[in-house]
Amino acid sequence: MKILHLISSPRGGASFSIKLGNAIVEKLQAANPDSTLTTRNLAESPFPHLEEVHINSFFTPKENHTPEFAEAIKHSDEAIAQLKDADVLVIGVPLYNFGIPSTLKSWIDHIARAGQTFSYSENGPQGLVKNKKLYLAISSGGVYSDGPMKAYDFTESYLRSVLGFLGMTDVTVYRAEGLSVPDLKEVALEKAIESIAL
Ligand SMILES: Cc1cc2nc3c(=O)[nH]c(=O)nc-3n(C[C@H](O)[C@H](O)[C@H](O)COP(=O)(O)O)c2cc1C
Repeated sequence: MKILHLISSPRGGASFSIKLGNAIVEKLQAANPDSTLTTRNLAESPFPHLEEVHINSFFTPKENHTPEFAEAIKHSDEAIAQLKDADVLVIGVPLYNFGIPSTLKSWIDHIARAGQTFSYSENGPQGLVKNKKLYLAISSGGVYSDGPMKAYDFTESYLRSVLGFLGMTDVTVYRAEGLSVPDLKEVALEKAIESIAL
């Protein structure tokens, strides 16, 4: 089993989404001793924001690529190859301004490519990234899984939508939440780790 752990918090050892992601990875490894792990730190080595050259390279057949297009599409090709190679994805997601970090959005912008990770058929769009298990490790200052802020829970619904569109529909979400809320913050990570059931 090949595990791909994507990190998008820049906070290293202090990050709750990284700690929660690591706990998921450790449980996966314990249950699957032959598994391999690739960790990709999107905060340390970010994918570039999409520029005109990236978009043009996506929509131009490879045989017509200029050297500039060939260079620009390398990021996307590499991200897609790494994604397709994995059996299990663990994505660490710090909640930023009601959304995901821009580094994670950049990764998504490079993996979502017509003809590579989704296609349009007579029956509508079809995801081409099949047979993956996906775990989301979401950390947030507030509580979004339930209660008054639930209506602002765009992160889980967005990731389920866009990654589901690409074919990744087997999703389990773990949350360390309430990290800015007195009484909750002391136990949020511990509770999240305890809830991990693979
Ligand atoms: C730039 C920034 C924006 C944030 N926006 C929100 C927010 O909209 N809602 C929330 O509940 N917490 C928000 N937080 C708090 C983080 O979600 C929280 O600190 C979380 O633990 C960050 O993940 P990390 O520990 O993996 O870095 C924000 C934190 C930062 C640094």
